[in-house]
Amino acid sequence: MTDLVLETSNLTRFFGEKCAVYRLNLKVPKGVVYGFLGPNGAGKSTTLRMVVGCLRPTYGKIKVFGLNVFSDRVKVMEKLGYLPEKPVAYPYMTPMDFLVYMGRLSGLTRKEAVEKARELLDFVGLGRLAYSKVNTLSAGERQRLGFAQALINEPEFLVLDEPTSNLDPVGRFDILNKVRRLAEEKGLTVLISSHVIPEVERVSDYVGIINNGLLVVQGRISDLIAEEEDEYLLEVSDSKKLLERLRKEDYVIEVRARDHKSVYLKVDLNKSKALWLTLPKILAEEKLALYGFRPIGDPLERLFLRRLGVAR
Ligand SMILES: Nc1ncnc2c1ncn2[C@@H]1O[C@H](COP(=O)(O)OP(=O)(O)O)[C@@H](O)[C@H]1O
Ligand SMILES: [Mg+2]
Repeated sequence: MTDLVLETSNLTRFFGEKCAVYRLNLKVPKGVVYGFLGPNGAGKSTTLRMVVGCLRPTYGKIKVFGLNVFSDRVKVMEKLGYLPEKPVAYPYMTPMDFLVYMGRLSGLTRKEAVEKARELLDFVGLGRLAYSKVNTLSAGERQRLGFAQALINEPEFLVLDEPTSNLDPVGRFDILNKVRRLAEEKGLTVLISSHVIPEVERVSDYVGIINNGLLVVQGRISDLIAEEEDEYLLEVSDSKKLLERLRKEDYVIEVRARDHKSVYLKVDLNKSKALWLTLPKILAEEKLALYGFRPIGDPLERLFLRRLGVAR
């Protein structure tokens, strides 16, 4: 059995009549970045709040490092870092004071807390704002501060609720790279929620897709999308010729010429091997030059849309 950092069973939360999360069985293996994807209102934040012990489930179990989040709260919190959806920091404190304070709360000495705070402020790119008041920071800067706060106790498991939602594209890229580095260099396990698919794809090894409170799919991204690369764009010397030949192949679901040199092709997943075997032959027989061949669309996005019932 793989080592699971997080395991939930039948995790469920109602708000009155409204069911926000229903019978979720999340499995987050050790050392991976797990992307928790879903549209707005899907139940991501509710799930994460329960996982970190901020919100009681209506029913269901949560194990973090094999421990019960509620009854072994202190032990779990020692190993856990959490960036909430709306990070909180005292408005009249400076980022430096806030981090030192949080560091002290997590058991560091004053000297350790100051050192750690400096290091983290630099790490998240807030070094120059270390002594500004929190209430003068932008939403993005507060999010960076929240990220630093989540790391103050050197957690082994990092839970990030849409950590890039207030950042510009450069900031997003920067934070996501840092998440990836933490996982690779320090062996952290990360659970990161987002509604932005390419973001998740960039950093994650695993993905779980939630919709209307239900987990729709979960697994290793490379396994999940291995079956998804079924649409291609081929650039050839004569698209009409290729089109005529491909129409006769039984692995082809759809084929059409985009213009006189490019062909769109959709292939039956179960028969896609035939494509690799016959295409070179077709090209040779028809004396066609192949200038380009690439899968189109984003496979994870296609999976996401398909599982949500939006496409195909
Ligand atoms: N405290 C609450 N009271 C009532 N409904 C809530 C509360 N928190 C969340 N919800 C509802 O639960 C659903 C899931 O919300 P949330 O977990 O915040 O979704 P996400 O983070 O995926 O956008 C939404 O319909 C939301 O309105
Ligand atoms: Mg949310």
